[in-house]
Amino acid sequence: MWDLASQEPKVNQFINETMASDAKLVGNFITKHCADAFQGLNSVVDVGGGTGTIAKAIAKAFPSINCISFDLLDVVNGLEGSKNMSYVYGDMFEAIPKADAVFLKWILHDWNDEECIKVLKRCKEAIPNKEYGGKVIIVDMVLKNEEAGEKSLETQLFFDMLMMVNATGRERSEKDWSKLFYDDCFSHYKITPILGLMSIIEVYL
Ligand SMILES: C[S@@+](CC[C@H](N)C(=O)[O-])C[C@H]1O[C@@H](n2cnc3c(N)ncnc32)[C@H](O)[C@@H]1O
Repeated sequence: MWDLASQEPKVNQFINETMASDAKLVGNFITKHCADAFQGLNSVVDVGGGTGTIAKAIAKAFPSINCISFDLLDVVNGLEGSKNMSYVYGDMFEAIPKADAVFLKWILHDWNDEECIKVLKRCKEAIPNKEYGGKVIIVDMVLKNEEAGEKSLETQLFFDMLMMVNATGRERSEKDWSKLFYDDCFSHYKITPILGLMSIIEVYL
């Protein structure tokens, strides 16, 4: 999908605008209701941050945090940051800019387990070690079949199929997420449900 977007400006624009619309809602929510997740951080890199909506929201809500919105060249080309928010381009499978925390919203569900482990390895290289509190903050879906109603179940299945068809990804249950984290040697994680089926997952070295 991302290769197609880099060749087709209209597709690129459509994806970026759609994601920015969702990011506006989530950015407002997490900066108001999940401030704890950002406490003590001096820098955050939003990997696959699109056109920077989340990084802008974090930079505005927490002026002491330096934010980077990191994405592919075609996505961030020509965009200008502000005092504590900047754009960097690159490939998250190659290297991620260093920061106290890596933020990943709607990224890992796009990719299969092997690809996620590659990205998580790059995240580990980007953050400070355990003593200095490096962490990864993920905003993504956590499947919850047992207690879900019919509509919620339909939505979860729909998203799962969408990720399978449009990308190489899938939606994950807590068991699937924990396997990813522990296979990649993170020591613990905390899941907090936020909006609808979305949760914020803080993952620690
Ligand atoms: C589903 S969108 C999520 C955008 C944003 N995080 C949000 O939730 O609004 C996935 C993003 O990952 C970016 N992306 C895809 N492959 C990438 C790569 N190899 N390196 C960096 N970013 C990538 C895409 O350009 C896109 O902006």
